Amino acid sequence: MGFPTRRLRRLRQNQNFRTLVSETDLSVHDFILPLFAVWGSGIKKEISALPGNYHLSIDCLVEEARQVRDLGISAILLFGIPGVKDECASEAYSPNGIVQQAVKALKSTVPDLLVITDVCPCEYTTHGHCGIIENGYLANDRSLELLKKIAVSHAEAGADMVAPAAMLDGEIQAMRQALDEHGFENLPIMGYSAKYASKLYDPFFKEGTHSALSFGDKKTHQMDYANSDEAMREIALDIEEGVDIIMVKPALFYLDVVYRAKKEFQMPLAVYNVSGEYAMIDAAAKMGRLDRDAIMLEALTSLKRAGADMIITYFAKRAATLLSENRREVSVRVPLEEVATPLKASNRELQTR
Ligand code: PBG
Ligand code: ZN
Repeated sequence: MGFPTRRLRRLRQNQNFRTLVSETDLSVHDFILPLFAVWGSGIKKEISALPGNYHLSIDCLVEEARQVRDLGISAILLFGIPGVKDECASEAYSPNGIVQQAVKALKSTVPDLLVITDVCPCEYTTHGHCGIIENGYLANDRSLELLKKIAVSHAEAGADMVAPAAMLDGEIQAMRQALDEHGFENLPIMGYSAKYASKLYDPFFKEGTHSALSFGDKKTHQMDYANSDEAMREIALDIEEGVDIIMVKPALFYLDVVYRAKKEFQMPLAVYNVSGEYAMIDAAAKMGRLDRDAIMLEALTSLKRAGADMIITYFAKRAATLLSENRREVSVRVPLEEVATPLKASNRELQTR
């Protein structure tokens, strides 16, 4: 039975109908906001590639965490910019390291906000690689020892969950074992299970964490973006090794992987809406090409629709604010003239040519 009996537009005719039949709900409870801790005090310095996100000294980080919690966001993903870098990332596992000190401060002042820590040596090594380098190659098993020390130090500082990000073979097993041995058998692990070697991370390590590589690339451990069967194998192994939450990263170019991951594994699934994805939308909005808020909500909703349960995103605060103002239909309410002007101008130019 088709047209004219079937008219799918019937349920699209006003916002109340559309809300009623909406299949995907984007909510503040889906968001995890990355935060960046630096040494010092009174520092709140905007990260130029990620406008609206900051390098925060611990006093300001605590203030930011309060605001984040007050917006209804339940978790942050914490990164640290160390005071000293060396070949073996020693500040990464020091009890006096930037992340350990930041976690302590956060848990003692804003205890009801979940603090997830990124466990990877690359912000702490002089060469920017995710572990120990031997003959120019990222040594797997020696680097696992490093990851174990970092994870345990984060747990001891009070982290609620650790997120191993190096894409080394066996990293979940190594970390689970180390945590259990130290009495942290109840501390969950969020694995960067299918993490691709992507140029979309450039804004993050160039300006977010100042950890650009001094040589080489990360293609011997992060995944080739041509592959998705392999992503399923990576995820299956992480699950076997005891991961609690799986992740696909980046997010927007990888919706097929997100969809498959949810279908095949029915595990809690996180996606990382990475720095380059944020920067693209931000840049296009600044050029007047795209409506920032509307595109942001469309992008985040697409991640939920593909199967994500939670979204790590630099948009978390803005999206939470919009959602709390109940402005799902931002594109209707934001005057389009402003956005459309540059487009119209260039159309006119074309016509007169
Ligand atoms: C590793 C890590 C990276 C990102 C998050 N954790 C960098 C990398 O793997 O090269 C990138 C996140 C982003 O681009 O937003 N510490
Ligand atoms: Zn790394």
